[in-house]
Amino acid sequence: MKQTLTILGLESSCDDTAAAVVRHTPGQKAEILASVVEGQDALHAEFGGVVPEIAARAHAEKLDLCVERALLESALTLTDMDAISVTAGPGLIGGVLSGVMCAKGLSAGSGVPLIGVNHLAGHALTPRLTDGVTYPYLMLLASGGHCQFLLVRGANDFTRIGGTIDDAPGEAFDKTARILGLPQPGGPAVEREAAGANPEAFSLPRPLLDRPGCDMSFSGLKTAVLRTRDRLIADHDGLPREERRDLCASFQAAVGDVLAEKSRRALIGYLAQKPPFPIFAVAGGVAANRTIRSALETVASELEVNFCAPPLALCTDNAAMIAWAGLEKFRAGHRDDLTLSARPRWPLDTASPAMLGFGKKGAKA
Ligand code: KG4
Ligand code: ZN
Repeated sequence: MKQTLTILGLESSCDDTAAAVVRHTPGQKAEILASVVEGQDALHAEFGGVVPEIAARAHAEKLDLCVERALLESALTLTDMDAISVTAGPGLIGGVLSGVMCAKGLSAGSGVPLIGVNHLAGHALTPRLTDGVTYPYLMLLASGGHCQFLLVRGANDFTRIGGTIDDAPGEAFDKTARILGLPQPGGPAVEREAAGANPEAFSLPRPLLDRPGCDMSFSGLKTAVLRTRDRLIADHDGLPREERRDLCASFQAAVGDVLAEKSRRALIGYLAQKPPFPIFAVAGGVAANRTIRSALETVASELEVNFCAPPLALCTDNAAMIAWAGLEKFRAGHRDDLTLSARPRWPLDTASPAMLGFGKKGAKA
């Protein structure tokens, strides 16, 4: 097989339409030759969440344009690609279908091989794209749609060692923002409000910390925020700005405590396997939160594990990660054909029991 591989990636499983071109030669750092992401925030803003039909239609309209732009930016053509890699699940089925159909059309028209990849594998393998980290490493994926700890041993070898049993933490941030009258996306808005406020002002629950293991729960936390807000409004005849800031800080501290303690437990389990170069990697929008990120970094450094946080644009949904995941599969000899199907649910780790539920951004897998 050729040493240097150039892969086109397509992503459309949630509310970002994306195309990217990634090139890699073994022993060298991977290059992202182009990465185009078209978000849909404005289309869904008035509905307070992603509307699957609107998302699917927008993906179908934008995918080929994103591919065109990515090829233009990379100064390459479709036939320069060694493979076309597309998210084939999990996610909102209409969006995933749009991507798979587009990729099949491109593959059939150009003769370039097709590869279907798991969106979560894209996130989980990103530290290899950005930092060339070696297996096995521990990954915490914490976003609006996902929340899980993964032990990553290979491009197709993942063990989920815990995850949310209800909401993802980003969802809890978004709902908290809505409850407190702050704009969407809620994470950055809550973080801004919390800056300099008192994280101990309100005592909010730390769900599932009293139970062993690495599973998490965030939906009760949002209910506690709602109750506290109602009490404050009743006491003050409105929600005073200072109280709202303290409530944001207290909420953020609770999410941070849960993620940090569960990360500590996950890391202890990982270290027991004596990895030669221990690495704790994070991805997802929630990992952008400075308070949470520094809590996770502290846990890693206490346990003498290297911490890896890819740049934010590659932590959130993008197609470079899909191109990379496809590249690893292609190198391992994997090929798909026009029978590739879109899968709304597709757990990375089929040996662990399935997590229940769909988040506002699709299947939690
Ligand atoms: O990874 P992402 O862009 O998309 C998926 O959910 O797949 O994550 C978006 C989520 C949103 O729920 C957003 O509120 C949250 O990540 N988020 C944050 C921050 N920035 C984004 N949460 C907390 N603090 C932030 N600074
Ligand atoms: Zn994602």
